[in-house]
Amino acid sequence: MQPPRAVGWSPDRQALRIIDQRLLPGIEQERDLTSLDEVVDAIQTLAVRGAPAIGVAAAIGLSVALRAASGGDGARARHLLTEYAPRLASARPTAVNLAWAVERMQRATEAVRNDELLDVLVQEAEAIRAEDAAMCERIGAHGLSIIPDGARVLTHCNAGALATAGIGTALAPLYTAHARGRALTVYADETRPLRQGARLTAWELARAGINVSVLPDGAAASLLAQGLVDLVIVGADRITANGDVANKIGTYGVALAAQAHRVPFYVAAPWSTIDRATPTGTHIVIEHRQADELGDLPASVPAWNPAFDVTPRALITGYLTDRGFVEPPFDTDDELS
Ligand code: MRU
Repeated sequence: MQPPRAVGWSPDRQALRIIDQRLLPGIEQERDLTSLDEVVDAIQTLAVRGAPAIGVAAAIGLSVALRAASGGDGARARHLLTEYAPRLASARPTAVNLAWAVERMQRATEAVRNDELLDVLVQEAEAIRAEDAAMCERIGAHGLSIIPDGARVLTHCNAGALATAGIGTALAPLYTAHARGRALTVYADETRPLRQGARLTAWELARAGINVSVLPDGAAASLLAQGLVDLVIVGADRITANGDVANKIGTYGVALAAQAHRVPFYVAAPWSTIDRATPTGTHIVIEHRQADELGDLPASVPAWNPAFDVTPRALITGYLTDRGFVEPPFDTDDELS
């Protein structure tokens, strides 16, 4: 079975088509978005989510929203772009792919005539989507070396097909190993409070016929302590120049427990997640979300609800990218731009 297509074009290319991830695992429903408000709302409410997927959604969303709002008038679209780009780029702060994709779309329009602008934006958005899918495939191929037959793997949140335009980042080597006939046991952390592990990772792996169990986040350290995990692999929302990694809240705790029990801890991400301009994890803006995500709290009791944490470089065994395994620091490679 093909992995789900989390983000892409509608057949007529007039809309951004997403799977509404808020409804999973119960309902698999696609939605077509054509206005900037709809795209920003989908990103902020996590209808589309995952660092690479929101970058692709922003690129396609920007292209279709500008065409719709400008009525096909390139000069008007160029003017609207100056308003739309910053709104979209700031919809969520932590994943670097969002601002990266918007900036790339803006750059693509710099040297083109107004009458070419809308077509150039479609081409650039499609390039971003296709490159993301190809990067996922390469992450999967490079990652095969750490997923032997019979591997028992722990993951956190969802860094699978639903988080990208392809077969995922952290889950890509698992899909690739499964396709080669390797037996796998995957443990998916539930990932409180929005349960991306239980709702999304478990859904897409089970759908693909991969053996997956869900555990409460608080059970991960015990699972590692009991020797039931050969390796941990997670995705990333931003990797700084020194190798610190922002990922879904709870990742840091898993990395600490993995180190305590001498289990290798890998981070998988495309190059577009490496942010050379940010030196260390302390500089990353961490998104804080509403208290209502934590369920019923006593009246007047506030919540502290960061959506991401930072895992320091020292806890990370290896960085798996579409270019293979890489080593920080990442601030010296000119090809990364
Ligand atoms: O808030 P989300 O669901 O967009 O967060 C996504 C994550 O943090 C994932 O764990 C992932 O590793 C990054 S995207 C491949």
